[in-house]
Amino acid sequence: MTSLTINDTPHVVEVEPDTPLLWVLRDILNLTGTKYGCGAGLCGACTVHVNGIPERSCQVSIGDLNGASVTTIEGIGTPGQLSILQQEWVACQVAQCGYCQSGQLMQATALLQENSAPTDEDINAAMSGNLCRCGSYPRLRAAIHAAAKRMAD
Ligand code: FES
Ligand code: FES
Repeated sequence: MTSLTINDTPHVVEVEPDTPLLWVLRDILNLTGTKYGCGAGLCGACTVHVNGIPERSCQVSIGDLNGASVTTIEGIGTPGQLSILQQEWVACQVAQCGYCQSGQLMQATALLQENSAPTDEDINAAMSGNLCRCGSYPRLRAAIHAAAKRMAD
């Protein structure tokens, strides 16, 4: 049994302790915004925040999360109340097929929490583990810069 907070809501999860967090989010809690890509920690599609740090949820065991605070894509904005980064994501038309995008947004959100004015090099370094088969990298860089500018104003 694991007690944790997900998107500011307390949860008690009763599954085998080695169950990946991604399975719990999608299959038990129906938080399907977090995507399954490779299942091997290589693509970043499943990125969530664990205690404020971006983590690959396919590689995190639920048994290691007692008392943890998890944030998923559902926790950073809603269709009626998008975060500034999500608003700029839409304005820059970053999403193509969309499959990698929740992971990209979680990684980029963490970047902006740590670095309020990232350079292209900072962005490339922070986002290099989040793969996009549609090649949305130039647009996501533009969206991150635009969000950083708005947050600074
Ligand atoms: S699905 Fe977790 S890193 Fe690819
Ligand atoms: S938008 Fe299609 S994989 Fe990234």
